[in-house]
Amino acid sequence: MALVTTKEMFEKAYNGHYAIGAFNINNMEIIQGVVSACKKHNSAVILQVSKSALKYAHPLYLKKMVDAAVEETGIDIALHLDHGPDFETCKLCIETGFTSVMFDGSHLDYEENVAKTKEIVDYAHARGVVVEAELGKLAGVEDEVKVAEGQATYTDPDQALDFVKRTGVDSLAIAIGTSHGAYKFKGEAKLDFDRLETITKKLEDAGFHNYPIVLHGASSVDQASVATCNEFGGKINGAKGIPVEMLRKASSMAVCKINMDTDIRLAMTAAIRKSFAEDPAAFDPRGYLGAARNDIEALVEKKITDVLGSENSMN
Ligand code: G3H
Ligand code: 13P
Ligand code: ZN
Repeated sequence: MALVTTKEMFEKAYNGHYAIGAFNINNMEIIQGVVSACKKHNSAVILQVSKSALKYAHPLYLKKMVDAAVEETGIDIALHLDHGPDFETCKLCIETGFTSVMFDGSHLDYEENVAKTKEIVDYAHARGVVVEAELGKLAGVEDEVKVAEGQATYTDPDQALDFVKRTGVDSLAIAIGTSHGAYKFKGEAKLDFDRLETITKKLEDAGFHNYPIVLHGASSVDQASVATCNEFGGKINGAKGIPVEMLRKASSMAVCKINMDTDIRLAMTAAIRKSFAEDPAAFDPRGYLGAARNDIEALVEKKITDVLGSENSMN
């Protein structure tokens, strides 16, 4: 039993018109909640770790817990670096045993993004690790970087093809209207599916057959979780996410990986707030963390069956 790469996962997802969920992990309860949902539905999964998660939990602790999840569940799990900021962080994750890394040079000048991505692709490929990169700018907050709604730029299709050709990157995260965090839209949700279609066609016509596209900032911001947070003392106002129908549509197209973190944070916070409010005398962390783990499991089950379509996707 070992971690797997995303290569075959994406090939199957593309042909099967579904997507693999990529969930951010920061601790044991999140890992257990996610993988136990995937085991129930025989679904492959990507567990991803941001720079802040590496700092919070330590790469080795995360790697060993994910190894335990592989051994315990027997499901296909890829361990991925999310929004890798530089070569050093990608190298650290490759040395730790991650099966894929993302280098996020989306904030850089185009030529610099190409050069840095290529350097990481060459290093990773020589070690059997696959690479995701990003082109275009999503609005929202990721790590310490905040991009205002007006400063987001959608991915240019010609540039996307040039980028894939010149870097040899294995999958590409694109900007078509999603954004990071809990406050994605002020008005109506809107994704540029025509742009996704054009990018896909350009890649296909140029010989990049079944090229996997990645959607970041794809939490739906479940209003029930937000309401529970607020009912039990939270102050989360105006939070809005990507409607599930749009994610279903993206999954049926070239999008093979859908990133969700905010939904897990909300489910976890709602469960913990509720536990504290309902039993103020309790102080055993296993009580409230156990409740959070159960709710994360329920959330991921719903994602697999209602949004991603990844049930029975094991190799
Ligand atoms: O896109 C960012 C992810 O939600 C990770 O967030 O950097 O706070 O761990 P984080
Ligand atoms: P959300 O903030 O929509 O959950 O997006 C997470 C993400 O893209 C992680 O890379
Ligand atoms: Zn992201």
